[in-house]
Formats: sequence, C-alpha cells, structure tokens
Amino acid sequence: MKNKKYLITGGAGFIGSALSRALLKAGHKVRILDNTSRGNLARLEDIKGKIEVIEGDIRDAKKVREACESINSVFHLAFINGTEFFYSKPDLVLDVGVKGMVNIMDSCIDEGIKEFILASSSEVYQKPPIIPTKEDVPLSIPDPHNPRYSYAGGKIISELMALNNGKHFDRVMIFRPHNVYGPDMGWEHVIPQFVLKMSEICTQNKDKKIDFPIKGTGKETRSFVFIEDLIQGVMLMLEKGEHLGIYNIGAMDEIPISKVAVELGKIFGREVNVMPGEAVKGSAPRRCPDISKLKKLGYEPRITFSEGLGITAKWYIENYDKKPK
Ligand SMILES: NC(=O)c1ccc[n+]([C@@H]2O[C@H](COP(=O)([O-])OP(=O)(O)OC[C@H]3O[C@@H](n4cnc5c(N)ncnc54)[C@H](O)[C@@H]3O)[C@@H](O)[C@H]2O)c1
Repeated sequence: MKNKKYLITGGAGFIGSALSRALLKAGHKVRILDNTSRGNLARLEDIKGKIEVIEGDIRDAKKVREACESINSVFHLAFINGTEFFYSKPDLVLDVGVKGMVNIMDSCIDEGIKEFILASSSEVYQKPPIIPTKEDVPLSIPDPHNPRYSYAGGKIISELMALNNGKHFDRVMIFRPHNVYGPDMGWEHVIPQFVLKMSEICTQNKDKKIDFPIKGTGKETRSFVFIEDLIQGVMLMLEKGEHLGIYNIGAMDEIPISKVAVELGKIFGREVNVMPGEAVKGSAPRRCPDISKLKKLGYEPRITFSEGLGITAKWYIENYDKKPK
C-alpha cells in the first residue's frame, strides 16, 4: 500500500533519517518525533519540507499522543544508543526505553493504529549460546548489576510489550539490527572511535608501521552491516514480514575487531600493530546473526565490509571537526 503515513520515533537518528528517506522514496508520508538529544535535524536537511518534524521527548505522553494522530504505522526507534551511555547513564537508558515504550504503545492503541514496528537489538542475545544466532535463542541478562545491560533490559521489555499487545494490531514486527555502520552514525561506536584514533596517531607518527591500542584481545568479533543494507532489510520486512515476526538484520561476515583496525590502517596507508588492552566488562566475545529468516524473504546484504569501511572512514575524516568536544 502506497501513501501510508508513518511515524518514526527517533527519526533524526542515524537509522531513522535513512529510513525516512526510504519511506518517502517508496511513496509514503513521514512524520518524525525526536528530542534531538543524540539525533541531528541536519541529517534530514535534504528532505526538509517533505517530512513533518515534531520535536519532543518520547517520555512526554501528551507529545507522543499528538505525534500519533492520523498515523497508519509506527516505527519505534527512539532510544539511548551508544555503548558508552549504557555504562555512564544506565538510569536514563531505562527511563527513555521503558517510559517511551509505554507511551508509544498506549498512544498507538488509543489512536487505533494498526501497525507497529520496533527496533530492538543484537544486544538482547548478550553472549549467545549459538553462533550464528537465530531469532529464537533465549534472551538473557547475565548480570543485573552490570549497567551495560540497561540497554538490553530496555529492549527486552520493549519486545515483550510489543508482542503481548499484538492483539490490538493487524501487524507487529520486531527487527534486531546487528552493528549498523555508515557515514554520520554517531561518535560513540567502535568504527568512528577507531577512525578518530587512527587519524590522531597518524598525525603524530609518520612511520609506515604504527601501534594501535584497542580494548580487549582483538579476537572479539562483530558482524557489521552497512546502513543501506540495513534499510534494504527493513523495507523487505515491511513488504513481506509476518505479524509477530522477529527478524535479525545484519550481515554474516564475522569480523575480528583487530581486522577492523588493520583494514582501517590500509585506508590510512599504514601497517597496524594491534596492541590488546583491558576488555570492556560485559562485552560479548562473539556476535554474528543468522539471517536465513530474512533471506527467505529475499534479503541479501550487498556492501562488503572493506567497501563500507572506506565510505564511512572518508566521512569521519572529512567531518573530523564535528566530533563532540
Ligand atoms: N545503530 C546500530 O548499530 C543499532 C544496533 C541495534 C539496535 N539499534 C536501535 O535502532 C534504533 C536507532 O538507532 P540509531 O543508531 O539510529 O541511534 P541514534 O542514537 O542515532 O538515534 C536514536 C534517536 O532517538 C532520539 N532520542 C533519544 N532519546 C529520545 C527521547 N527521550 N525522546 C525522543 N527522541 C529521543 C535521539 O535524538 C536519536 O535521534 C535505536 O532504537 C537503537 O537502539 C541500532
């Protein structure tokens, strides 16, 4: 169905802004709700005037209700993302996660909105028992005292609320993105942090071979998915996904963190000697999604990691002066 009206909470964020563009391109109308605490309206500059922007906090029930008026479908993305915030502001992560979800659910039901799509996360798997990880493995919080799990806790609560309110909707779907990256993805993630560190090291040290300190052994793995591929997956799920369906969206190349540093070194024309350091407490040693469920709907990630890393690094090098002080 064309010409549906979508609300994207967190629409000024990295994924929300790309999703806004994709929905517009598919012939839909878009409204976003964002308090720009992390998002940036400049990300939407090219589609300014084509989307409706409501500035407000997802914890403000009245604002959320207003944002839901005359909407056909909701993408709920507003959340505090960025690993360092899980440790430094776990109370805020849960406040936004839980109150936000309660508010958006209440408003959707009161307004009679029939479709609800939740952005969850690979973090709900924590230390997955099986890799590649399918959607049906048990979700867990290994240690409630570790603030890191504030984020996963908020996502698990949101998933439960979405699924258990399924009867109020024609379609509820959940997607679990796995390490999405790309230009302007924020600064509190491994790839931008590595680019910045590499730039600084390369400015100070002109040797061909450089030492590059990292957290952990470097053998920890992640599976990165380029933003365009993530959006391809979301749009496919939107077209063909089933009611109460949960979908991993990612790529299945399991990449050691040391490789990220080495590949980045190549972009800077350097040979990198990775120097292991203390690991971040609670970080999963390996992560890789099983994406066969979405593949059955036709999904195929297209951008290779080295291609995507090159595009992303270029953006961060060119926009170095925008880094938060
Ligand atoms: N980027 C990833 O790799 C990744 C991986 C897994 C899950 N996710 C999830 O996908 C969604 C989007 O992620 P993203 O990378 O675009 O993050 P992002 O931080 O760029 O976007 C989140 C947006 O939510 C907004 N927001 C935060 N608190 C708010 C509040 N109280 N009220 C209103 N708006 C608020 C921010 O301003 C921001 O624009 C999030 O739910 C995130 O948890 C992202």
